[in-house]
Amino acid sequence: MLATGIFCLWLCHCFVDFGCYCTLLLSLAYPTDTGPLSTGEEPRRNQSPHLLISYDKYSTQDTDITEMGVLRAVAWYMERNPLPGKPPMTPGQLENMKPLNATGLFKAYFQADVSPNRFMKALQEITAGNNLVEIYHIEDSSFFFYCEEITKSISQLRILRDSVLSGLKGPVNSTALESARLSVGKALHVLQKFYSNTNWVEMGNSKPYEYLLNATSRAFPAAPASKTTCSNCVKESSGWYSCNENILVKDMLTSGYKLSATCRTKPKGKCGHGGRNDVTQNFPPTGGINKETSDPRLSPHYRLHKQAAELAIQATRDFFIGEGSGLLSHIGHDTFQKFFSLEGYSLTFAIDTTGSMSDDIQQVKNTCIEILREYSGSPDAPFNYILVPFNDPDVGPVLKTQNVDEFESYISKLRAIGGGDCPEMSLTGLKLALQESLPRSKIFTFTDAGAKDKWLKDEIKVLIDSSGSELNYALTGYCSSRRRRSMAEEEREAFGKTYANLYEELAAYSGGYYVMTTKSELSQILGIMELSLNAAPVKVAHIQLNGAQFSFPVDETLTEITVSVKSLRSTGFSMTVLQPSGTPSTFTEMVINTPKHKVVKVSPVHERGSWSVTVSPSGAYEVEIGGKSLLDFSYQIMQKQKEYVLPVQGRPVKGANYTFSMKLMGDAKGTEVQRLAYTTGQGVPIGSVTLNQTFDAFGNLLAIAPISLHAPTTLLIVEGQSPGHHPFSRVSAEPISTESVQIMSLPDQNGTMSPGETLELSVLVVNDGPAASFTFKVWDDLSLLRSFKPTGSFLNPGENITLTATFMASGENSSFASSIATFAANSSTAQNYLKLPITVIPETALETDEVPPVYKLLDFYMPCVSKLQKKPLCSGHNWFMRFSAKDAQSAVTVRVNTNPSGLSCSPQETGDNKDLICHYASDCCSPYAEVLISDENGNTDTLTIEYRRPRPMAA
Ligand SMILES: *[C@@H]1O[C@H](CO)[C@@H](O)[C@H](O)[C@H]1NC(C)=O
Ligand SMILES: *[C@@H]1O[C@H](CO)[C@@H](O)[C@H](O)[C@H]1NC(C)=O
Ligand SMILES: *[C@@H]1O[C@H](CO)[C@@H](O)[C@H](O)[C@H]1NC(C)=O
Ligand SMILES: *[C@@H]1O[C@H](CO)[C@@H](O)[C@H](O)[C@H]1NC(C)=O
Repeated sequence: MLATGIFCLWLCHCFVDFGCYCTLLLSLAYPTDTGPLSTGEEPRRNQSPHLLISYDKYSTQDTDITEMGVLRAVAWYMERNPLPGKPPMTPGQLENMKPLNATGLFKAYFQADVSPNRFMKALQEITAGNNLVEIYHIEDSSFFFYCEEITKSISQLRILRDSVLSGLKGPVNSTALESARLSVGKALHVLQKFYSNTNWVEMGNSKPYEYLLNATSRAFPAAPASKTTCSNCVKESSGWYSCNENILVKDMLTSGYKLSATCRTKPKGKCGHGGRNDVTQNFPPTGGINKETSDPRLSPHYRLHKQAAELAIQATRDFFIGEGSGLLSHIGHDTFQKFFSLEGYSLTFAIDTTGSMSDDIQQVKNTCIEILREYSGSPDAPFNYILVPFNDPDVGPVLKTQNVDEFESYISKLRAIGGGDCPEMSLTGLKLALQESLPRSKIFTFTDAGAKDKWLKDEIKVLIDSSGSELNYALTGYCSSRRRRSMAEEEREAFGKTYANLYEELAAYSGGYYVMTTKSELSQILGIMELSLNAAPVKVAHIQLNGAQFSFPVDETLTEITVSVKSLRSTGFSMTVLQPSGTPSTFTEMVINTPKHKVVKVSPVHERGSWSVTVSPSGAYEVEIGGKSLLDFSYQIMQKQKEYVLPVQGRPVKGANYTFSMKLMGDAKGTEVQRLAYTTGQGVPIGSVTLNQTFDAFGNLLAIAPISLHAPTTLLIVEGQSPGHHPFSRVSAEPISTESVQIMSLPDQNGTMSPGETLELSVLVVNDGPAASFTFKVWDDLSLLRSFKPTGSFLNPGENITLTATFMASGENSSFASSIATFAANSSTAQNYLKLPITVIPETALETDEVPPVYKLLDFYMPCVSKLQKKPLCSGHNWFMRFSAKDAQSAVTVRVNTNPSGLSCSPQETGDNKDLICHYASDCCSPYAEVLISDENGNTDTLTIEYRRPRPMAA
């Protein structure tokens, strides 16, 4: 079972005057189903960093807050930017949709079946950034607003936001966007924690705190170190604390203490974070103030969880579209759309332009352009068309357009010349195509030659992983050796064989088509282009058939079906697709028709239920059923990392225990998920588990299941019942590849440096496979890498080694810069990688003013003793004081809670509000006052006067 909790052994010394000092001695993980803190509930959230510790159905988790805030921001944006030719929308029309989810939003915006899968992928990268904080910064209170590190946390938040803004200035590419999404996720984490970990909600605020992201708006005073902020909570018989009204400050910000590397004590009189994960909760002041969950065992202020979550959602929304301060107003429409992948996909042609290709190019132009024209302007059309020519040694230039005619003219201008030697720089061309295409694009390579630059294969696979794009190959040869080709084909006849060539491997890896044909038959396979022109593609089945018939479920959400059958022997075949009634559909079109590979498209679909495909002769075939539908699932493979369950980084390891976590997309009402089946990448069944579905706080359907991957590649299949009570099945878009080597990040590396500084990042390479010799590689986009060591190593089974890379930011650079470092390890049979964000932060951004203003009492007259305080006598007697208040950095604000009109302040020198002289007077009915003296960052000191202390000294 995946449920695990954390048991920490702390050594604490508590002193009456100094609060507690604790040291972490030991921490152990134990399964919660047997542990003393068992909740008795199944954890069932995807991505949630708190999955292991608790899951409470009614709590809004960090990733839910991010998702809802993002959805509202994007809905707001869409309302104001309707598609060309569509009527304008009213404010709130999309944002106030109930429920608000990505599928519903896209459908309402495009007024067509357009899958939100690209947007979901961008969202997943943002939540991955949320999670990075739990992995790398758990020991740094300034990512959590813990320990009254309010000024520091605000500064942390602004640094992250500013690094995003600088990364998104000017033209951006996919790496810049990925890195920005991670930083946004981190920034949102800090932002959201403000609402659950400080007393903002308890102070009665119903709007987000504007100052967090707008330095010129008013800062709230933060409680000074000397201020007592909390009282003890009451321990209930249930064992947890009841903490109503335990916060003693009403006009100052404070937050709970939770011990970490940057916060070693909970001082006397200070609020705790609280909950069973806070080791100081039993030391006074007992209990705490967090509102992170709606579970009283974890969150003493659980009753305010909903309010805190709602404010965090609003603040998240405003982070993106807030007027003036939001991301949108800084980065502009184009980049905003790219950031959320709202643009759609690219249709990209990588075309070999050697002499032998001239006839192929002609056929591609004639056939494909005609298809593209047919779809032009429909919701299924790509956002743009990209052409990447390659031969040897030249690659490029890349041509992009949104216009089919222009695309045609680009292809017409290709000159197929030269040639002779066989392999070409096709992977270099492909790499460029992957980099230039939008996420989840469709890339077609047309060539008749093998790849000369095979060494790029691993890098290409990493690019496929991060882009989610699909590679399709239409080959009219592979080198010039006919003999080698037929040998490869003979190999295919054995089941379980690997791929005929590198291209087939890449196509399979990315979930795309691989078609080998002859030059004369090329136009007969170009119909596959049509299958790519689909704004809501899904896979229904993928199997290796050994026989003559195969059935598959067609639910009512499928508006189009494609049936692809490939013979795995060298003989030709014929096929028929039958509806549940046993008759062939009349709306079929043969899009590929070669002796060994046929693809049929059915549109529209009239009958629901069990369809079948019959082949003749009986034999070995690879059958793939695709279609168009909004009913689909998104998933993550989760792994236990320290006390959290987080998405696996890099590729999963063969045989390890993971958790499959899925979310259903589409119209969930009435949908039921029942089973997770898995097969090899080629479609050979491996096994299945039952899925127990549940719903999150917003009504999204979720399910998790334990999973262990043993095949080199695995396809995941979710089965269930559609809203119309038909069986449905959906296959993951691309197979999951497992590896026998893994790269793990080491904790507490923050990945930031200042210009002129160096940064070392280390990872652990673990060999889970047989003994092998590994080579290591590290690269980053901004060329910050200086060196890494070692460059390779021999590793026995189970052995590991630390790989350390050194990065350096040049001293001249005085602005933010963000990049992603990729660490890779390869042996002849295994490879894996890990990506780590790195950020250059200018020195000036790190300067945080945490010093409150100083004051000095200059004059003080206090006659209010004994009976002079009593009514009505008191109103006839007055006390007063005069004091100076001065800050080294910024303007000073002075506030007093009793008799505010008695206070007047003026600058010592005109125009300089850093240095004030104040006068305060009151009658003896209020013989005390607390004066708050703050600077512009909210750093505050208090001056407390009461009649018993006639000569107060400056604190
Ligand atoms: C920041 O706050 C100030 C003061 O409230 C306001 O005038 C200004 O418009 C805000 N700036 C942005 C970018 O929202
Ligand atoms: C995975 O879990 C199973 C059963 O729960 C256990 O027997 C096995 O040792 C675990 N494998 C690993 C690699 O931890
Ligand atoms: C998504 O929202 C739409 C429209 O509000 C709704 O009809 C649909 O059921 C929702 N889907 C899910 C998965 O909750
Ligand atoms: C992105 O741009 C940076 C510099 O602007 C460049 O160094 C890098 O190679 C580009 N990356 C991709 C994936 O195109």
